[in-house]
This record gives sequence, structure tokens and C-alpha cells, in this order.
Amino acid sequence: MSGALARVALLAHPAGHSLSPLMHNAAFEDVGIDAHYEALDVAPAELPTVMNQLRRAPYLGANVTVPHKEAVLHLVDELTPAAAAVGAVNTLIRRGARLVGHNTDGAGFVQALGEIGLGATAGLSEANCLVLGAGGAARAVVHALLAAGASVHVANRNPERAAVLAADLGSASGATNGAYVAADVLELLPTTNLLINTTSVGMRGGSDPYSTPLIEAANLDLLPIEAAVVDLVYRPAVTPLLAAAESRGLLVQNGLPMLVRQGALAFEAWTGVEAPVSVMRQAAERGLDRNAG
Ligand code: ATR
Repeated sequence: MSGALARVALLAHPAGHSLSPLMHNAAFEDVGIDAHYEALDVAPAELPTVMNQLRRAPYLGANVTVPHKEAVLHLVDELTPAAAAVGAVNTLIRRGARLVGHNTDGAGFVQALGEIGLGATAGLSEANCLVLGAGGAARAVVHALLAAGASVHVANRNPERAAVLAADLGSASGATNGAYVAADVLELLPTTNLLINTTSVGMRGGSDPYSTPLIEAANLDLLPIEAAVVDLVYRPAVTPLLAAAESRGLLVQNGLPMLVRQGALAFEAWTGVEAPVSVMRQAAERGLDRNAG
């Protein structure tokens, strides 16, 4: 691509240690697009002004992260069905002077499952899934699982939030199977094919995983031996939940493949060019290694 340098922003507050600039700049370079991705620290009060800047060249679009994913719902010109159903935007795409709010988290999650043999075309429609957590990440995951035909139970520390999620998404996605609140996690585990932790439990610097009833209750010995366990946390690469699942011999995946896949889908929405997924993954892994200690 020739001409002026195109730009993509990450709207965050604080801008912090995101791996996205590394992933996307490596991808732009790999496919030969003259563009630069940078994290912007945007205070909530500045969000409308920054959104107006994004409506003009040289911006192709943006990513949106904490704490803006819900606030931008009301500041875009259009929402995709995925963003509207999830109730959060992680990607902005500029179309002329209009900003389209989109969400690639759920589709990225399902694509990442393909890496452990559980993609949208490989058995998810038969799967019983148990999702721990009912925040923004859980909403994206549950929406995508329902769209792939899975049946989903949601367990959350605050059960009311799980009930709201199940009611919102169970009917909105046109799913053939529903979303339910998990009344008793232990009772569900023997028939669960896929257990997903969407909470921050197990994250470096986060809550102590052993003091958390939800994870403790997820007694992995009760899962069928062919079950898979996915943790959306990727710092550390092996959380206590994944270590326990691995020692039981279960299929495991951390959150890095989902991070890369949601990024690849955003890249494709901005550029119309197939994302170099392995280049993005290597860049993310290098970034993790760099701030590992
Ligand atoms: P995200 O967008 O990453 O999902 P979020 O919306 O803040 O973030 O949601 C965080 C999730 O982690 C919630 O399900 C939260 O449970 P509550 O709704 O009960 O707050 C869960 N969570 C965070 N810390 C937790 C802990 N120590 N034990 C159990 N669940 C926890």
C-alpha cells in the first residue's frame, strides 16, 4: 500500500502493557501495509473527542479495551449484530466518516478452540459447556458458543449477574440450545465437555485461585477424561486451573490463542487482507517473554 501512513489506535485507560501493538505492527509489516498501531491512554471524558478523530483518515479503526468497551456502544454510528448481542465493542471499523462498532472476541474464541480440535465445525454443537464468570469476556464467549449450537451453563460468584447473562443471551442469539445458570457446578461436571474460566482468578497479580470457591468447586476429577479446559488468562501461561487439568490429562488451552484470533479478525476488518496469524502469535509470545519477570 502506498501513500500516507495509516493508523489504528487502542483506546485504553491506562494504556498499560497490551500485546496488541506488537501483534498488529508485526502483522502490518509482514503483509506490507504502511500502517502503525498505537495504544492511547484515553480518559473516559475524552472518549467522544477521540472517537471523532477516528472518523477521519488516516485512521482505519481501533481496538477498545477496559474501561471503554461498553461506553463506546453509545458513541458509534452503527453496531454489528455481534457487538449488539454481546453488549460490548472491542473493534471499531471506519467506513468513510462512520464508525462501526464490532466485537471479535467471541468469534476469536471459537476459532482458537479449533486449535484443540473443537472449532465451530468440530463438535461444538454437541458440547455441554460450563462457563465460570459472567463479565464482559463471559458474554462474548457465551454468545459465540450458543451461535455454534452448544449448550451453556454459567456459574458466577455473583449469581444474579449469571442470571442476567443467561436471560439476555439465551434468547437473543437464536440458539437452539439455551444458556442456563449453573445451580450446582459439581453436579454438572460429569457431563461437561468444555470448561472455560473467564474470570480474572489465576491471573498474575489477581485473586488467589485457591481461595476461590468457583475454581475449587471445579473439581477436575469429576470431568470426563476427554473434556477440555480453557482459561482466558494468559499471564501466567499455565494457571493453577490449567496445571490441574494438564496433570489429569485433559485437553487445555490458555487465553493467548483467543487474544491472537480476536486480533486477527480485527486486522482483517480494518484492512481486508488475510491476517498473518502465526506472525501475530510469535509477536505476542515475544512480548509476553519480555515482561515475564
Ligand atoms: P471481563 O470483562 O474481563 O469479563 P469483568 O466484567 O470485570 O471483566 O468480570 C470479571 C469476572 O470475574 C466476573 O465474573 C467476576 O465475578 P463477579 O461478577 O461475581 O464480580 C469474576 N471474578 C473476579 N474476581 C473473582 C474472584 N476472586 N472470585 C470469583 N470470581 C471473580
